[in-house]
Amino acid sequence: MSRALSKTIPFSSLPLIPAACVSPGRPTASIRQAWDGAPKRHSSHSPLSSSQTTRKKVTIPTLQAMHKRNDPITMITAHDFPSAHVADQAGMDMVLVGDSLAMVALGMDDTSEVLLEEMILHCRSVARGAKAAFIVGDLPMGSYEISPEQALGSAIKMVKEGRVHAIKLEGGAEMVPAISKITTAGIPVLAHIGLTPQRQNALGGFRVQGKSTSGALRLLADAVAVQEAGAFAVVLEAVPAEVATLVTKKLRIPTIGIGAGNGCSGQVLVQVDMSGNFPPGRFLPKFVKKYGDVWSEAKRAIEQYRVEVKDGSYPAPEHTYPMPKEAYTEFERVVEGQ
Ligand code: KIV
Repeated sequence: MSRALSKTIPFSSLPLIPAACVSPGRPTASIRQAWDGAPKRHSSHSPLSSSQTTRKKVTIPTLQAMHKRNDPITMITAHDFPSAHVADQAGMDMVLVGDSLAMVALGMDDTSEVLLEEMILHCRSVARGAKAAFIVGDLPMGSYEISPEQALGSAIKMVKEGRVHAIKLEGGAEMVPAISKITTAGIPVLAHIGLTPQRQNALGGFRVQGKSTSGALRLLADAVAVQEAGAFAVVLEAVPAEVATLVTKKLRIPTIGIGAGNGCSGQVLVQVDMSGNFPPGRFLPKFVKKYGDVWSEAKRAIEQYRVEVKDGSYPAPEHTYPMPKEAYTEFERVVEGQ
């Protein structure tokens, strides 16, 4: 009740709510029946709807079977519940909670700033939104490089608290002890070689990798090393397409390319980039294809909402709740003291 209202109406003069409406007792059989038969209603702010279909869960054997029959594996990043839910509903095989969320969701300058605890929070919300896709969480810089024990500890936290199915970590042959330790404990590892953004300072920026013969041979050696250490798949980022194709041919495990051409076993893109959820003029790497213009559509909608609030056309009668005329007349009589 507003202060102005409480001054004019004594509380005791307001009509009482019938006790039957607020009784906390057990529901009667007929009410229980009505509840059981009623369609499940989600909160009005939930993007879930009961009409949406659920697919069979994607598992490691599903991914292996796809790889065996040359069915390209689709992967996209998600950083929260809605972005995971839309990716899942669009049929993505895998959802990656990439540490690129440092920039696209948290506004940081690069991935080195994001903490394990922050990654876990985002993984938890993605896991609530993606019900069928296989979910992979990125281990952020500083959470796995010190020792295999540290890497396993962080991987366990990602699974237990972040509710992901697998973890991803950057690095090739030097990460073999960590990958072995994590996979031996039963946690699937997606390796990531080529351009590894967490090492951008050592690499001299975001540079294409494996462009020279020796660089390509190093990339192949890294790919074989992570495969032998137990990785179930490997991300190849920013490498020449021919090199990625030959590396893919030489491996038993699938390669997931990003900026690595279409000879890989699958592809991954950052959702915010490919859906165009960024303002005009932002730099985009060469390999990104913009499939939508989510930012412009969101801006258009918000601008329209602003205009309609300012000119009073929103909310219209259809956006309001009805009330019996007599009830309102009585309310007005009490309030206005007529
Ligand atoms: O962090 C990320 O989004 C990634 C993908 C680009 C592979 O690592």
